[in-house]
Amino acid sequence: MTRRRSASGLPAENVDRGAWKHPHSRIWLLATMSISLWFYLFYFHFEAAGGGRGSVDQPVNLQPSAALEAVEHVALTDPEVENSTTEPRQVAVEQAEWPFSKAMRTAENKSDPCGGRYLYVHDLPSRFNEDMLKECRSLSLWTDMCKFTTNSGMGPPLKNDEGVFSDKGWYATNQFAVDVIFSNRMKQYECLTHDSSIAAAVFVPFYAGFDIARYLWGYNISTRDAASLDLVDWLMKRPEWKVMGGKDHFLVAGRITWDFRRLSEEESDWGNKLLLLPAAKNMTMLVVESSPWNANDFGIPYPTYFHPASDADVFAWQDRMRKLERKWLFSFAGAPRPGNSKSIRGQIIDQCKRSKGGKLMECDFGESKCYSPSSIMQMFQSSIFCLQPQGDSYTRRSAFDSMLAGCIPSFFIYPILEEDMRLSLTSHRRVTCEMISIKKCTYSVRISNDQ
Ligand SMILES: *[C@@H]1O[C@H](CO)[C@@H](O)[C@H](O)[C@H]1NC(C)=O
Ligand SMILES: *[C@@H]1O[C@H](CO)[C@@H](O)[C@H](O)[C@H]1NC(C)=O
Ligand SMILES: *[C@@H]1O[C@H](CO)[C@@H](O)[C@H](O)[C@H]1NC(C)=O
Ligand SMILES: *[C@@H]1O[C@H](CO)[C@@H](O)[C@H](O)[C@H]1NC(C)=O
Repeated sequence: MTRRRSASGLPAENVDRGAWKHPHSRIWLLATMSISLWFYLFYFHFEAAGGGRGSVDQPVNLQPSAALEAVEHVALTDPEVENSTTEPRQVAVEQAEWPFSKAMRTAENKSDPCGGRYLYVHDLPSRFNEDMLKECRSLSLWTDMCKFTTNSGMGPPLKNDEGVFSDKGWYATNQFAVDVIFSNRMKQYECLTHDSSIAAAVFVPFYAGFDIARYLWGYNISTRDAASLDLVDWLMKRPEWKVMGGKDHFLVAGRITWDFRRLSEEESDWGNKLLLLPAAKNMTMLVVESSPWNANDFGIPYPTYFHPASDADVFAWQDRMRKLERKWLFSFAGAPRPGNSKSIRGQIIDQCKRSKGGKLMECDFGESKCYSPSSIMQMFQSSIFCLQPQGDSYTRRSAFDSMLAGCIPSFFIYPILEEDMRLSLTSHRRVTCEMISIKKCTYSVRISNDQ
């Protein structure tokens, strides 16, 4: 719990509400892209037939992956059309002068197992990543992050003395360690390329979360913004940037979106302005809590303690969790928020204390149990519902720990925020299903604060 801006102090910026996040808009977009694609195909076909060599404005709104999807969509869904236009399509691709047409050709190459999945990773100067690890003591005011940045960001292995975990695959992972976990994982990705022209996406291994964590408390805004401005300056000078104005670039940070969306240039406002920079608006950023009102960030789960090496490890774990006897109806691990009149935590703590079926683990004043992975996981493994009232922000790492323990996460929602909450949790849930292979991930309980 190292964030202090109240989540109820919602940013009023209702700007560029994420068209990408709206399912209907996405279909509309796909349809538009398919249509414009056909337009280009015919255009090139007739250009070629007429002996002229086409030059055409770059379609600025196409992202390569989206464009590729459109091509695939057309190819997969309409065999008749495909047969009749195989030739013009090839002509089109060969004649095209789009900077990313080589990437599109690569994506269409069925004999290349990496076709459409190549990733180019920027070789950033070490001040943007590795140097921060060397100064790991500065990464948090409260936690010694040096322990947590070891072992590729997963932290030291957890012992299984109490039998709460399985014997392998469990690590003392810090909730803010995604920056280093992800960039290390990317080093093992099977479709890396040094040739950016065939890449479907460009990864920027900037430790944006670590960068802002150093300066959130007690530093002026120019210090907080310095690395972001430096990064954008560096990126925009690269030839890879010019291909799509950065729209094929993405970065990953293990902190919430509000840390990167300072509301104004007031010193007292929270965070830096990374996500508000024009260049960052072209990029995609994956963060542990996304903004429902913006299109350039997407929610990914907080890391948990479990890092299974194979599907079998996951299935074995799921099996074990299903068979557990759960003696508590509900449980809660956390601290009250006495300063926040809207917080429901006080009532929850009260209910847990009074109820026979409820179990409470209070995190006040450094009670060490609350920071012990095995105590927390043990409690979740013995509970049916795990209460997840919002803390300093809407989302909590604890929700993912509880899912892992087979405990149903239960969210408390202010009615006025419900729609936004739904959006943000939906994006969480979708990614969670894919990434931690929980097949039945449609269950979660949402409780209105009035009830
Ligand atoms: C398209 O071509 C393939 C192979 O050339 C053929 O098997 C298929 O029946 C064709 N589809 C149509 C709709 O003509
Ligand atoms: C398709 O991929 C294969 C395997 O990587 C490669 O040998 C071949 O040259 C590629 N074809 C084209 C047209 O790029
Ligand atoms: C911000 O703080 C840094 C050092 O912490 C200092 O060097 C710099 O002058 C300050 N900038 C402004 C605009 O106050
Ligand atoms: C963002 O993308 C648009 C359209 O591709 C481009 O015109 C603009 O220059 C890009 N912005 C930056 C900062 O590169």
